[in-house]
Amino acid sequence: MDIQRQRKLFDRQAEKYAKRVGKRGADHKWRKRLLSEAEGNILEISAGAGTNFPYYPGDASITAVDFSPAMLEKARETAQKENKKVTAFISGNVETLDFPEHSFDTIVSTLSMCAYPNPDHVLRLLSTWCHKDGRILLLEHGVSSNRVLAKLQDAFDPVFTKRVGCHINRDLMTLVHQAPVTIQREEHALFGAVHLIWAKPNP
Ligand SMILES: C[S@@+](CC[C@H](N)C(=O)[O-])C[C@H]1O[C@@H](n2cnc3c(N)ncnc32)[C@H](O)[C@@H]1O
Repeated sequence: MDIQRQRKLFDRQAEKYAKRVGKRGADHKWRKRLLSEAEGNILEISAGAGTNFPYYPGDASITAVDFSPAMLEKARETAQKENKKVTAFISGNVETLDFPEHSFDTIVSTLSMCAYPNPDHVLRLLSTWCHKDGRILLLEHGVSSNRVLAKLQDAFDPVFTKRVGCHINRDLMTLVHQAPVTIQREEHALFGAVHLIWAKPNP
């Protein structure tokens, strides 16, 4: 999909994402468990409306990236409300960003690998940008391990992608296994369609 069109799709969803901040939905316990291990100088890619900000420790220094100006505006409001130190809000396409190697202690991606044209490239970037002893924390969705659900995901993927801007049938675990990262811990939920991953960059 053309990136301008995809950005507009997400711009239109910003209000909806902002309303979910602080809500105790199904994702709350996953975000809490994963992000309780975020620390230091944090990079969050595709931060959306800042849904993860409440879960970061008070002394964290956060760099938030998103290509949707409307999402970033909501993220600014969330940072202010939650009193979190977001040192930079970067409006840009993650796939073309250029941070120095080993810049961040923790890199977070939640529900974003579904959106990139080249998620394998993004995972490589995360590995490069992460400090050698740092953590890469992922909460992502993908194709279910249940064959019936997986077929439904395949069937609905084209229409979902067109309307929402992200894929619902990516083989997320294969992508992560092929990336230059080492998985330290993984948990799966919702019929194997949701993945919590604690990883570190490969040397
Ligand atoms: C499904 S939302 C998830 C938002 C947030 N991470 C969360 O967990 O609620 C996907 C986000 O990725 C952003 N996004 C998608 N593709 C992007 C890209 N190539 N570069 C930067 N941001 C992107 C969208 O604007 C949107 O905010």
